[in-house]
Formats: sequence, C-alpha cells, structure tokens
Amino acid sequence: MPGTAIIGLQWGDEAKGKIVDLLTEQNEIVVRYQGGSNAGHTVVANGAKFKLSLIPSGIFRPHVQCVIAGGVVLDPAALLKEIDSLVARGINIGSNLMISDRTHVIFPWHHIADWMFNNIGNDEPIGTTMRGIGPCYEDKVGRSLAIRVGDLFRPDFKELVEHVAGVKNRLFLGLTDHCDNTMRIPGLDAELDAEAIYRQYLGYAERLRSYVADTTNYLLDAVDADKRILFEGAQGSLLDIDHGTFPYVTSSNSSGVGISGGSGVPSHFLKKIIGIVKAYTTRVGGGPCPTEQNNDIGQRIRERGNEFGTVTKRPRRCGWFDAVAVRYSARLSGVDVLSVMLLDVLSGIDCLQICTAYEINGQRIEHFPSQIEYLRKAVPIYETLSGWQEEITGITKYDDLPDNAKRYIKRIAELIGKPVEIVSVGSDRQQTVFV
Ligand code: IMP
Repeated sequence: MPGTAIIGLQWGDEAKGKIVDLLTEQNEIVVRYQGGSNAGHTVVANGAKFKLSLIPSGIFRPHVQCVIAGGVVLDPAALLKEIDSLVARGINIGSNLMISDRTHVIFPWHHIADWMFNNIGNDEPIGTTMRGIGPCYEDKVGRSLAIRVGDLFRPDFKELVEHVAGVKNRLFLGLTDHCDNTMRIPGLDAELDAEAIYRQYLGYAERLRSYVADTTNYLLDAVDADKRILFEGAQGSLLDIDHGTFPYVTSSNSSGVGISGGSGVPSHFLKKIIGIVKAYTTRVGGGPCPTEQNNDIGQRIRERGNEFGTVTKRPRRCGWFDAVAVRYSARLSGVDVLSVMLLDVLSGIDCLQICTAYEINGQRIEHFPSQIEYLRKAVPIYETLSGWQEEITGITKYDDLPDNAKRYIKRIAELIGKPVEIVSVGSDRQQTVFV
C-alpha cells in the first residue's frame, strides 16, 4: 500500500491535521511538500493539543520518519521555535525529522516584501499571513536571488547573503520613495544588515545541520522499497497558485497537483487521495467567497467552530457548504474519498443550506469560474436541508447519527460525486465516525 495524500478541498483550515494524525499510524513516512509557516495544523495527541506549522503531523508517532521536502519554503527561526516548543513538551525530534537541502529559505527581506506588496496601492489586498511565503517563492522562480537550505553550508554563504541583501536594499529603497508613512514597515528605513543576517542564519544552519538531507533521493528509495508514505497537504485546493481563486491564493500548488512537484515522487505512486472538507465553508484573507454569511449564522459557525486562524488568529469568514467549489477542487486534486470535518458545529441549526450552483449574469452555472471577476458576481443557488438538534460530539457509529445529519452527509457525497469515508464530530481522535 504505497502513497496516500491528504488534501484540503476548500480555502484551507479544513482540519487536515487530525486526519493526518489518525493515518500516521499506518504509514512509515509523512511528507510536507509545499507551503511554509503560513500553515497551521492542530493535532490533539494523547489528550494534549499541539499546533504545528512546518513540522509534519507524523512527529507524534515515534516510528514515523517526517520529511520537509524541497517544495516547502522554510523560515528557520519559525522551525527552530516549533522544534523547541515540541521538545519542551516531551516530543522526540532527532533523526525522525529530515529537511530537504533543496528547500528554499525565507529571509528578513521576504517578510518585508510580503508586508509592502500587501499594503501598496491595493483596494482588496490578498491578506497574506505575512510569513514571507510569496516573496520567497518569487525568488525561487526568479532564481538569481534565491537561497536554498543547501546553500547555508556553502563556503561562500557570506558573500551570497551580502549580494542578495545588497540588491534587496536597493529595491526596497526605491520602493519606499513611493510609499507614504502609513505604508512603511517598522525598521525598513534602516538598511538590511547583511553581516547581522549572515551571522543569524549561520547560527540557524548549525542547529539545522543534522536534519538536512537529499530528501528527493530518500523518497525515491522509499518508493522503490514499497514504503507507506503519507503526503500532508497544507492550505486548500482553492488557494492553489495555478488553479485556485487567483490572485487570492497562496504561492504554491496547494491542490493535489502539487504533490509530485513538491516532493519529487512520481504521481502514479499515489494510490489514495483523501479530500478533506469542513461541513461548511471558511476563508481567511481577501477574495470572493460566494457562500459567506455575514450574519448570525456566520457568527454562530465562527463561535462554535472556533474559526480563528491557527497562525494569525484572524477571525475566519464563515458560510454554507459550497458544492460547486468542492466538486471542482475534488476533481482537480484527484480525490478518491471525502472526509467531512466539524459536522458537530452545525448541530442546532434548523435549516441548512448547500450551494449547488451559481447564478452569474442571470445564468445558472454549475462549474467553478476561472476568473475572479465572475466569481465575485456569483450568487449562490441553495438547496435547503433540515438540520438536527441533537449534540453529536459523543457519537462514534455512523448509524447513531441523527437521520438529518446522515441525509446531509449523503447529499454532500452525491453532489461531489465521491463517497464520504470519515465524518469528524470533534477534535479528539475518538470523535471520528467511519462511514
Ligand atoms: P500567504 O500564503 O501567506 O501568501 O497568504 C495568501 C492567502 O492564503 C491569504 O488569503 C491567506 O489567508 C491564505 N492562507 C495561507 N495559508 C493558509 C492556511 O494555512 N489556511 C488558510 N488560509 C491560508
């Protein structure tokens, strides 16, 4: 049984961490292959709550090898902080963590650029997590100013930092001339100090040295050895740089299409793709979200679902389940089965709505638009289902769910065209119903 992948099918925060954690038991390797410390995965292990950002969720199982593959962008300060806080809570992190030497490194100039481009002349900013993700991927694709984990150990690393910092200083100074004071990032008036940055990153490199490896070859060997590998997607398919709601997306391929590119593992090795959805919709940051409910329902979902960002603590925008969007992202990500999360959050709502089509410019549309301007105009066409009043957080058997909850799940499966395999009714491992 080789590769399995966990992919979010909405705009991120679908509670993927819980399913990854459940499946790690049956796998030998868990791989993060895109995104960076913009991601936030909450895992409840042995009754304790852990928030992960860069470290694969397999870290709580001692037999699992965790891999941060080359498609990730790595902020060493964020990773070391995460390692320290896990170690302080008794989690073993040693040779069970591997970081690709091909992974691109986030530097202070990426944080500055993230801040600047979100704020300069934007009516509706992307609303990034400000973790330097987009600018680091920009440098990766641009190549000339990119620094990878392997470069941290080069004899000429100092010269490399001096060169890049020098170029960035000139770019930023040019840009700040066009910014008013409200757009200035604190500290930007001072130039980037290449020497200080070099020393800081040299320190990080020493601490990271033992984790660094050629993970592409490691994973290809693992494939040859028929090892069981779990690929842990970050963010959600609708935030995919190429196929999501551009430009309100993240800078990596966060749908299923990114697995192979980010990890180096050929796609035919993947035998099962599990699409994770919430029983409703959430979105953080800018961009259209057709089923968003700016009303009591949205507020109720936010409170009951504790819909606040794991990384940035921002309140999430909440709304009804959007089957048009999820049907699209499930096909895009090659999903075999669905896992419906946070069903318990909908308990007590009399009537539930599912969006089955959009009306755009007076026409009924059943496919997800490729252009953001069309999506902005989309008026959801809803189907109404009866809700259930019972608390379901203690239910462990599918048959014990209220009939209306089962009807809701069945309708999601019909509309998406994929079976629902798992229903989650709470954050704990036990609060999981297998259909
Ligand atoms: P960035 O990834 O920080 O560049 O942010 C780009 C967009 O993706 C913003 O709308 C973020 O709110 C969103 N985003 C990034 N990471 C996550 C995540 O883990 N969950 C949900 N949204 C995310």
